[in-house]
Amino acid sequence: MISLWSALGVTILVGTVQAALDIVPGATWTATNTGEHIQAHGAGLIEENGIYYMIGEEKTDGSAFQAVNCYSSTNLIEWSLEGRLLSRTEEAGDLGPNRVIERPKVIKNDQTGQYVMWLHVDSSDYRDARVGVATSDSLCGEYEYRESFRPLGFQSRDIGLFKDDDGSAYLLSEDREYGTRVIKLTDDYLNVSEVTFGWEYFAESPALVKHQDRYFIFGSHLTGWDPNDNVYSHAESLEGPWSEWTEFAPVGSLTYRSQVNYVQPLGTDKAIYMGDRWEPNNLGASTYIWLPLKFDGTDVTLDWYDRWTVDVEAGDWYDSVDVTAQEGEDGDLSNGGIVISCSRCTGSEAAGYLGGDEDGTVTFNVDVESDGRVTLVFKYLNGDYNSRFAAVSVNGQEQDCAFLSTAHYSTGTGNSVVHVDLSGGVNIIVVSGSTGWGPDIDQLLVPNI
Ligand SMILES: *[C@@H]1O[C@H](CO)[C@@H](O)[C@H](O)[C@H]1NC(C)=O
Repeated sequence: MISLWSALGVTILVGTVQAALDIVPGATWTATNTGEHIQAHGAGLIEENGIYYMIGEEKTDGSAFQAVNCYSSTNLIEWSLEGRLLSRTEEAGDLGPNRVIERPKVIKNDQTGQYVMWLHVDSSDYRDARVGVATSDSLCGEYEYRESFRPLGFQSRDIGLFKDDDGSAYLLSEDREYGTRVIKLTDDYLNVSEVTFGWEYFAESPALVKHQDRYFIFGSHLTGWDPNDNVYSHAESLEGPWSEWTEFAPVGSLTYRSQVNYVQPLGTDKAIYMGDRWEPNNLGASTYIWLPLKFDGTDVTLDWYDRWTVDVEAGDWYDSVDVTAQEGEDGDLSNGGIVISCSRCTGSEAAGYLGGDEDGTVTFNVDVESDGRVTLVFKYLNGDYNSRFAAVSVNGQEQDCAFLSTAHYSTGTGNSVVHVDLSGGVNIIVVSGSTGWGPDIDQLLVPNI
């Protein structure tokens, strides 16, 4: 509810504005300014002046290094591509062709003012097993790549980075000859100084968060690109003693088919689990599994939500408002768009032949009570290897929306989200072609605002 004070000091209600922007784990997340699925895999997050930066791997062309990308958001839900922080070089070298550059993580050194990025740097056969360091004066600008090395001479594969409240920082490093270590960085963050703690236990993709004066480290088992039941351990001091590693998501869920990449603190007593759902044969179509982490003393649990919402200013997360589903086949189909049969779809039908030469379209009338910015979810199928695209227009305001391949799905449909402004009353939502054929639309889910 928005209220304004009039000159007379009388409160005037000017209508209800609701926000129903949601995080939808596992969906296609289209960046607002590229029209493409976000390419920030294995990412880390860093906040500055109320803006969140997600820094991760471009995987459009598969596993070999392409770029480290930076996306920004003020609400952790709507993301725009800012640019490439590191790019593949033409000449051979750490950043050259057919190299492994993974899990970029950035922290700021408050003494030098520098932003320092640590990376897993490897050869395609994973024999290098090194870390790399890059620096920049600008968080989301170009980085200067400095060097790679084995920290204290140890092999290092998947990494994480952790900056403590006192400014000391730590590399989290998985060594296939030993296990996982926490290694203290030098004061300038450009090198390592000493081992703080080591486990003769393999926690791949380690991520560390401090929660109410206790340290929680998360990691996965070693199953390649396949998911497993990720585990965590906790301690009052980074030097230990650390608790036994134990699962935090339901055992057998394989961490909702994801691998932890980062844990983002939220407010004073909450945190967000961020995982990658890798698609090994189509890595650029890997999605992001973000869910609220629940802490109860030293117990950590992760429950599934089809959609949930976060308020970064309040430092809290919430259940989403209920949604109403409209069937694709019940939309108004025109310009070549037709109802098709679809065994995986609700009602066994979908809106098909969208886009293409005839620019097939489907139009939905969506009636809501209030004005508001909401996350629409399209349930869809795309049997191609590559993404399909559609233009989504809401009351004449158009934006591009990507639809990742669902060719690898054994069951069900995919989700793609788009964030739009709705007005109280009837809204006209038109899904039409963008490039080539669009997806087959099973359902449109609209928050009940
Ligand atoms: C980094 O630290 C190691 C171990 O202390 C040392 O051998 C190496 O020379 C250092 N590297 C640089 C560039 O200072």
